[in-house]
Amino acid sequence: MPQFDFNDTEVDLVMTFLKSRYSEKIPYSYLADADDRHAAIAHGDQLIDYYNCRGCHMIDFQGGAIRDIYAEDDLWKAPPLLQQEGWRVQPDWMFGFLHDPSSKLRPWLDVRMPTFPLTDAKATTVVQSFSARANVPYPYISAKVPDLPPKELTEAKAMVYDQLKCFKCHTAGAPSADQDPASLAPNLELAKRRLRPDWVEAWLRNPQALQEGTRMPNFFTPENFSTVMYPKYFGGSQERQIQALRDFVMTLPDTPATKPQATAKPPPKKKAALTPAKPRSLEAKR
Ligand code: HEC
Ligand code: HEC
Repeated sequence: MPQFDFNDTEVDLVMTFLKSRYSEKIPYSYLADADDRHAAIAHGDQLIDYYNCRGCHMIDFQGGAIRDIYAEDDLWKAPPLLQQEGWRVQPDWMFGFLHDPSSKLRPWLDVRMPTFPLTDAKATTVVQSFSARANVPYPYISAKVPDLPPKELTEAKAMVYDQLKCFKCHTAGAPSADQDPASLAPNLELAKRRLRPDWVEAWLRNPQALQEGTRMPNFFTPENFSTVMYPKYFGGSQERQIQALRDFVMTLPDTPATKPQATAKPPPKKKAALTPAKPRSLEAKR
């Protein structure tokens, strides 16, 4: 072996070249495009990184740097965590919201969600990536929650208004001017256009598990669902009570004064054509 008198940089270059001669290829299954779900996440992440969504939001347990400026007790004033967001909201709602986030869902927040110059195709990519991340079907097939039969509706209303007092915090329609934003919770009339029924059920079951520190109380006993908490309603069964509350929330009609909110606008019809191919396989992975 001759002495070549390489300097350090040259040694690096030769080593890099020799290492690249490695015969084994990276297995196809490790490449992002190898499966639809990871491809959807990777494509969405390009936009999420470009617009620095993680500056405000924690997504996949990464980001949310803005939370550092809030005191521990004030974290409920920070932009929402977007863990499991694809499971929480309906894709059409998210699409509309990304285009126009101007009507406030959380009246207590001072920080605002910016309006980004996203084309329909880019907004679709972001929405699809949230569905993929949460491993929920995309496109979403709306499973309409049936109206409660009259007797059950009466029981559900008694729980909502007399027992659990949901509207002490929540509104149905826009809040009135004299309500203190700091003690408010989201307008429940939006739920049917915004939320996925199975997420609402999980939320009612154990809100603290989904969003630590939320002001929404735990009404049930997730550690033991056979405990009878509210014996007067639905035979005392927590399961039936939760389902009835979910159905109540998801079928709450708009009060006539409420104009449909901009954020609830369905996306334009042409969106379907923008949907990248093979969404079915995402569904199959569920
Ligand atoms: C300056 C901080 C900030 C940035 C940057 C930001 N957001 Fe937001 N975002 C917010 C705030 C505040 C809200 C809550 C709005 C409300 O409740 O009215 C929000 C709400 C959302 C929601 C709705 C959550 C829910 O279910 O209620 C989604 C989805 C969302 N943002 C996605 C994004 C995406 C995608 C990006 C990047 C393209 C982004 N955000 C960038 C502040 C931000
Ligand atoms: C002490 C106040 C309070 C009470 C009482 C309360 N909630 Fe909430 N709830 C909240 C807050 C605050 C949020 C918003 C959490 C967030 O996303 O930041 C919330 C969120 C929700 C959401 C999700 C809304 C959305 O659009 O994201 C649903 C659904 C919900 N609550 C249902 C109920 C029901 C049903 C009851 C009665 C059984 C109830 N809540 C009672 C404070 C309350």
